[in-house]
Amino acid sequence: MVEDFTVTPWEVKGKIDYDKLIEQFGTQKITPELKSQLNSMAGDLHVMVRRDVFFSHRDFDLALKKQKEGKGFYAYTGRGPSLGMHIGHLIPFIFTKWLQDKFNINVYIEMTDDEKFLRNQDYQLQQTRDWSKNNIADIIAVGFNPDKTFIFQDTEYIRNMYPLAIKIGKKITFSEARSTFGLDVSSNIGIIFYPALQIVPTMFEKKMCLIPAGIDQDPYWRLQRDMAESLGFFKAAQVHSKFLPPLSGPEGKMSSSSPESAIYLDDDPNTVEKKIMKYAFSGGQSTVELQRKYGGNPDVDVAFQWLYYFFEPDDLKVREIEEEYRSGKLLSGELKEILVQKLNAFLEAHRSKRDEAINEINVFKYDGKLASQMWKTVHE
Ligand code: TYM
Repeated sequence: MVEDFTVTPWEVKGKIDYDKLIEQFGTQKITPELKSQLNSMAGDLHVMVRRDVFFSHRDFDLALKKQKEGKGFYAYTGRGPSLGMHIGHLIPFIFTKWLQDKFNINVYIEMTDDEKFLRNQDYQLQQTRDWSKNNIADIIAVGFNPDKTFIFQDTEYIRNMYPLAIKIGKKITFSEARSTFGLDVSSNIGIIFYPALQIVPTMFEKKMCLIPAGIDQDPYWRLQRDMAESLGFFKAAQVHSKFLPPLSGPEGKMSSSSPESAIYLDDDPNTVEKKIMKYAFSGGQSTVELQRKYGGNPDVDVAFQWLYYFFEPDDLKVREIEEEYRSGKLLSGELKEILVQKLNAFLEAHRSKRDEAINEINVFKYDGKLASQMWKTVHE
């Protein structure tokens, strides 16, 4: 059956049915049992796990088992640098930082300045390099441990990755890459080889690698799992997140390419307020009278969805907001105002951490404990 939604690393379209995606991609649902196991090991549950923003996984249970047995795991995630990051991009990083805090694990963060350059005819390499620097500051601001986190840019770290990259490259045929990523004979040969570079960090340690990421990145991990053991490494484990919906409504994902659909990390308070008030798709009724009478629909209301994803972490409060909105007690404008306050408080705190993070870029890239060790390692 043809689905009315599409999820690939480069395109997310339509109203995504996440249960169907689990079937399509052959992943597992994060079950109440897995949540309770995580809860008992971590001491609590991250809001994005409690609310099924992280909804799917492969071998997350196995990674936790390794941790219990004292063998441990490490985390790996990444970012294709662009001019500005939007709040959706932070989701995997926020959860990865939580995992680092709870399990004291190493974290590797790949900045794919190569991928971004290769994918877009209009971009110059210098641009994607400059954006990496900017994006790295936003990522550091999430609060990673400088001794246990290595952030690297592909075009810089390539020498250390190349031997392993070609071993991986040799295991993937063009035909597999073509069907996995929707490439064709007009694709440039740089992007055809690129998947090897996104797979290398899953083999940075002889430990299990756990990848927190949006589910759009899953095709890479399917390829990884087919070949990892033949190269002497573990199949990578993953935890997949849903997409923070764009302001325009519950379809697709927030994307950097349509500015009015996204809130960027450097949007000032006025811009945030204007965008939310003007563009955030409302599940409310067309008039105050109708809203009071029939109530709104939080399931499609973007302001509510954003509060639910993580901007209102208090479970009781979010339930109260949901009930008041459904019953008509809370109007759409009032709901949006709650989000504006939360978002602006979040962004203000983020920006002040970001200002400090700019001075720490070299620690995470080169001089920190893990970073300096990694520069001495050539991956084979
Ligand atoms: P990129 O830069 O497109 O996205 C970075 C991360 O953000 C996730 N994401 C979202 N999550 C929730 N809601 C959204 N609206 C949303 N939009 C994007 C993505 O799924 C991703 O996890 N090729 C990668 C870079 C990369 C990578 C990795 C990502 C290299 N190695 C390992 C994850 C794990 C990319 O261009 O991501």
